[in-house]
Amino acid sequence: MNDILPGEVETWQFLESEAHRIFQLYGFAEVRVPVVEKTELFCRSIGETTDIVEKEMYTFSDRSDNSLTLRPEGTAPVMRAFIEHKLHTLDPVSRLYYMGPMFRYERPQKGRYRQFHQIGVEAIGVDDPMMDAQILAMLDHYFEAVDIRNVELHINSLGCKQCRPRYRETLTGYLESRLRTLCADCQRRYLTNPLRVLDCKVPACQEATVDAPSVLDLLCDDCDTHFRQLQAHLHKLGIVFTINARMVRGLDYYTKTTFEMVTNQLGSQNAVAAGGRYDGLIQDLGGPALPGIGFAMGVERLVLMKGDQRIAPPRPQVFLAALGDAATDEAFALMTRLQRLGLRAEMAFAGKSLKAQMRRAGKLGARFVLILGDEELASGQAQLRDMDDGSQTPIALEGIGQALAARCLAGPATGSR
Ligand code: HAM
Repeated sequence: MNDILPGEVETWQFLESEAHRIFQLYGFAEVRVPVVEKTELFCRSIGETTDIVEKEMYTFSDRSDNSLTLRPEGTAPVMRAFIEHKLHTLDPVSRLYYMGPMFRYERPQKGRYRQFHQIGVEAIGVDDPMMDAQILAMLDHYFEAVDIRNVELHINSLGCKQCRPRYRETLTGYLESRLRTLCADCQRRYLTNPLRVLDCKVPACQEATVDAPSVLDLLCDDCDTHFRQLQAHLHKLGIVFTINARMVRGLDYYTKTTFEMVTNQLGSQNAVAAGGRYDGLIQDLGGPALPGIGFAMGVERLVLMKGDQRIAPPRPQVFLAALGDAATDEAFALMTRLQRLGLRAEMAFAGKSLKAQMRRAGKLGARFVLILGDEELASGQAQLRDMDDGSQTPIALEGIGQALAARCLAGPATGSR
């Protein structure tokens, strides 16, 4: 679990504000749900035999002996809220997004933490593959907007309640004959959750499943058509993708389309975003029979991907360098006025030499320094130093707030240190 400090937090704020901006273009509205839910919600949605439910949840009893769990993901809580507030009665299509911390007791490594953050979206009420394409177009747009490249979109279809059992059975049969070569985990999983064997990182298991039957060969007509139509839409939108029939996802609620945005920049934690369709989930949780699709991005992974091109903290527009008590008092009042006018203004709070104050202004990357001493106070004119070109000009104290605001807001409002 990490602290996110100034210097890094600006990148987080940028990633978040771009999510608000982009998702709203596509008609999504933010929803904020609690970080704890009844444990049962996650068992029923994510699946009893998944790694998350079996070994990664932070579960505890409250004082009334209710079993609660810190949310390991956002889809189930958002569906719970959707059902509880009957959001489908307000609009036949609900488009929701969320951001915030999630908790999984995983073995921490680069890109994998126990408290991590997701930015996620869920679109409920449309089963047309056009919605799948729209979601992927939005994800693509987001990556372009935050300037994260080196990501590849992988898509797959996991079938539905009709065709998945058939695939599961075929795969179990295939694995049975290779059981002895599988790792201990997979020997257990092959009956409870055989699709996960395809995702196992152990080389022996990967070798044993190289020519495992493909889920795509066993899709029913409806799922097959849905997947083909999605591909046609993506082609039309110019969104490049790879079909990866071995992509199984770690949550059980998926049906039909699943996808991941993967990168080779983060070692083994290669998914920066992932999601898919969950057409039976809302009904399984006691809600109306409505289809849904969504994804979540891992914010820590996005921040890692930004690497060197992190967002710099904003530089002060005016640094007030004051000498003497009267000038310091005046500078303090002026700084507060400038902040009210919408400028980033700074000063040294302890009486320092002019040299020390200029050094600090330089370190902060201030755009202008206003120099104010007792002499300037008496003459009604301060000195304004332009830190970009080094020039220094007198500026009247009368009306100085508006004059500085005009100068600063005319130039580039942000810059980097
Ligand atoms: P997920 O694949 O479990 O899906 O997680 C989505 C993303 O969250 C991952 O691709 C990764 O970027 C990030 N992530 C997951 N675990 C960690 C971790 N321990 N540390 C850092 N980042 C992590 C879901 O959670 C689904 N609810 C996504 C979804 C939304 N499907 C439909 N709608």
